[in-house]
Amino acid sequence: MIAIGSDHGGYDLKQEIIRYLEEHNIEYKDFGCHSTDSCDYPEFGKRVAEAVADGSYEKGIIICGTGIGISIAANKVKGVRAALCHDCFSAKATREHNDANILALGGRVIGPGLAVQIVETFLNTEFSNEERHKRRISQLEKK
Ligand code: RB5
Repeated sequence: MIAIGSDHGGYDLKQEIIRYLEEHNIEYKDFGCHSTDSCDYPEFGKRVAEAVADGSYEKGIIICGTGIGISIAANKVKGVRAALCHDCFSAKATREHNDANILALGGRVIGPGLAVQIVETFLNTEFSNEERHKRRISQLEKK
């Protein structure tokens, strides 16, 4: 189950991603926002991040204008590894190396065609499970 959220800057791209998820029978919950009216990305980044961190959702997708603000917000939540990816190489690598559990996208940065390919890559790539990557990820959790 996927948790998805955006601010107004990511709303239109979120609708495209939701269309992809529905076409592929991938279950999701939309944590808002629900229109292009101006709103604050930290709120929606936090909502998705908490839903993933507490184990209710397997992965998250968050979108703002650049993807930057909402990924910063999500990464404040313990246990979250949100990766801002605007290419498929990064989306594959962040799953394999970082076991990223949230994908961040910028709705004003890339178009829906590339964004959907990035989502597909992110959702379909497994963590490598290699020791060196596990060790580095565990270091991320230490204060
Ligand atoms: C909203 O105008 C914009 O600042 C926001 O969507 C995002 O790009 C912030 O990082």
